[in-house]
Amino acid sequence: MKLKIPEYIKSIRPYKPGKPIEELEREYGISDSVKLASNENPLGPSPKAVNAMTETMERLHRYPDGRGYYLVEKLAGRLGVEPESIVLGNGSDEIIGMLTRVLLQAGDEAIMTAPSFLMYEIMVRCAGAVPVFVPLKSLFVDLDEMAEKITDKTRIIFLNNPVNPTGTIITKDDFSRFMERVPEHVAVVIDEAYIEFAADPQCLDGLAWCGQDRAVAVLRTFSKAYGLAGLRIGYGVMPEELANLLHRVRQPFNANMLAQAGACAALDDHDFLQRTVSHVRGELDFLYAGLERLGVNYFPSEANFFLIDVESDADAFFEKMLIQGVIVRSMVSYGYPEYIRISAGAREENHRFLKAFEKVINPEKGQE
Ligand SMILES: Cc1ncc(COP(=O)(O)O)c(C=O)c1O
Repeated sequence: MKLKIPEYIKSIRPYKPGKPIEELEREYGISDSVKLASNENPLGPSPKAVNAMTETMERLHRYPDGRGYYLVEKLAGRLGVEPESIVLGNGSDEIIGMLTRVLLQAGDEAIMTAPSFLMYEIMVRCAGAVPVFVPLKSLFVDLDEMAEKITDKTRIIFLNNPVNPTGTIITKDDFSRFMERVPEHVAVVIDEAYIEFAADPQCLDGLAWCGQDRAVAVLRTFSKAYGLAGLRIGYGVMPEELANLLHRVRQPFNANMLAQAGACAALDDHDFLQRTVSHVRGELDFLYAGLERLGVNYFPSEANFFLIDVESDADAFFEKMLIQGVIVRSMVSYGYPEYIRISAGAREENHRFLKAFEKVINPEKGQE
């Protein structure tokens, strides 16, 4: 082809999602496998959301409400923010893209941790802008170093709290100190995809900054704690001026009708949210205890996933687990060549994970 593709597009490394379970089963000739690779909700979707979506099906010949009035109003009431400060997205992924589209032009810089959620880098590169990486320090965000990296060209700082893939958090105090060093021409994005799982009272709550006169945007999603990853619905909370810019660039019907109905109902499903959070915390403890019995090093987390040190090549370990029918995420591409990440599954899945893990690290014992 004779297409003239911009260099910045060629520089994008494609996002590699955890493969769908069906595809892996086909590839490896296995069945009945367990997927603990994508931080999904092991309890399934919120039942109230499923009912609401079923009822909405009959209206699918209509376009959805482009602004998502009911969902936005409900979120605003729940979060104590103005409806005008909320932007819905086809997953919070889409909000990341809208932010980079309105805030970045070629040559601008966006600071992010390394590793971090890969979509930040991809979206920054799509704008022809430059990602500036700050390595995590012992798995924690190094806010001092991020502040050091700010220049006249910096337009966005991406933070992730709790951090994917480490499960560590940013504290309120550290963030306050950090913000004293962030000039007003820089937008700070706090991606809180896993915030519902965080138990530490010191954990930063990004929304506390949204009412202030700073360009802080908080991203949240229904994909994790609400069990609606397949539905694709998330949102951003930000100053109204910034929200209005996002509305200019977003697709007019980006939050589909089922997603709006499902998310509205999920917000009222307090029981489901509570069950999810307590299940995840209980299962993390179960997994930690199992790994301790095996003498394996892991890193406790404030999210629904955690890292495990497998003390060998993580890609090879991933393959060996797969042969046992358990899908984990290798952290090689995240810069941790000997770590894997798993999410807390259902008890039976976690049990199978531990059995498979034992077989992989100790093949002779596993065969007894
Ligand atoms: C840190 C982080 N942000 C955002 C997302 C994307 O969420 P959504 O499904 O709402 O697009 C994920 C999904 O894995 C994530 O880990």
